[in-house]
Amino acid sequence: MGLYQAVLRKLLFRLDAETAHHLGLWVVSRGLLSARPLRDPRLEVEAMGIRFPNPIGLAAGFDKDAVAVNHWWRAGFGFVEVGTLTPRPQPGNPKPRLFRLPADQGLINRLGFNNQGATRAAARLRARQPGIPIGVNIGKNKDTPLEHAHEDYRLAAEALRGLGSYVVVNVSSPNTPGLRQLQDADSLREILRVVRTVDPVTPLLVKVAPDLEFDALDDLCATALDCQVDGLIATNTTLSREGLRTKIDEAGGLSGRPLSPRSDAVLQHLGRTVGDRLTLIGVGGIFSADDVRRKRDLGAKLVQMYTGWVYGGPGTVPRILTDLLS
Ligand SMILES: Cc1cc2nc3c(=O)[nH]c(=O)nc-3n(C[C@H](O)[C@H](O)[C@H](O)COP(=O)(O)O)c2cc1C
Repeated sequence: MGLYQAVLRKLLFRLDAETAHHLGLWVVSRGLLSARPLRDPRLEVEAMGIRFPNPIGLAAGFDKDAVAVNHWWRAGFGFVEVGTLTPRPQPGNPKPRLFRLPADQGLINRLGFNNQGATRAAARLRARQPGIPIGVNIGKNKDTPLEHAHEDYRLAAEALRGLGSYVVVNVSSPNTPGLRQLQDADSLREILRVVRTVDPVTPLLVKVAPDLEFDALDDLCATALDCQVDGLIATNTTLSREGLRTKIDEAGGLSGRPLSPRSDAVLQHLGRTVGDRLTLIGVGGIFSADDVRRKRDLGAKLVQMYTGWVYGGPGTVPRILTDLLS
C-alpha cells in the first residue's frame, strides 16, 4: 500500500466527496503533483491519426473546466478528456450529489454537468502549453429542450473548435433529463451532422451508455458509421445497482468496479461489430493492468479511468504502466 492509500486517502475520504475532489483538482492544477511520467516506445499508441504516449487517459468529468490541462502528464496519463462542457455555464444539481461506496470501490454521482461553459474552457485550452493529447467532451445545457439539443452541440463545438485532439459527443450521462434519448438514430444523426459541419477535421467520437440493449447499440453503430464518426467511448456510468454490497438509495450514475461487467459487455459487443472500423476507448472499472489488458482484449485501443484514480491516487497510472511493461 502506498502513501496515498495509507494516509492521504484516509484524510481526503474524511471530507465530503465533492470537497475532496476540488481539493485534489486544485493540487493538480497548481502543478503540485510530483512528476512521474513513464516514457517508453512500447507504450505508445497511434489512433485516429493521433499519437498517444501511452494508452491510459483521464476520463471526462474529473477536469470538466480544463483547469489542470497543463499538469495531467505529471500523473502519467497519456491523454486527458475535459468536459462535459455545455455552451452556457450551469451549476448542476443541488448538493450533495457525489457519493463514495468504498466497500464496492465505486462512486455514485448526479452532478448534472456542472461546468463553467465552453467559452471559459476554450480560453484555457488556447493558453495551454503543448503536451499530451486533449479530448473535448461536449453536451447540452439542462434547460435546452431536447428538440433543440443539436443547437447546443453546435455552439459548444464552435466555441471549442480546433482546441482538442478529438471531440466527444456525450449523449450518455444519466443526470441530464432526456439526454440519453439523444442516442436514438434521428437525434444522434442531427447532432453528428452539425458537429461535423462546424469541425470537419478533428476526430469525432460518441460516448455511449452501458444501459443500452445490444439492438440499440447496433442502431447506434450504424448511425455512427453512416456519419463517419472515428470512434466510440464505452461506457458512461450506469443506472443499474446490480451486484452492489453497499446499501445506498441515491439517484445517479454508478462508476468504478461494479460498472465493470456491464461496461465490458458493451465494449465486447462493439469490438465484435465495429472494432475493425472504429477506434474504441474502454472505460468503466479500470483499477489495474489486468483491467487494461482485459479492455484491450475486448477491442479497446485506448482506455480511460476516473473512479480507479480516486481510489488509487496519483501513483496509479505509473504503477499500471510499469505492470503493463513487465
Ligand atoms: C463524478 C463523476 C463525474 C463524471 N462526469 C462526466 C462528464 O461530465 N461527462 C462524461 O462523459 N462522463 C462523466 N463521468 C463518467 C466517466 O467519464 C466514466 O465514463 C465513468 O465514471 C466510468 O469510468 P470509471 O469506472 O473509471 O469511473 C463522470 C464520472 C464521475 C464518477
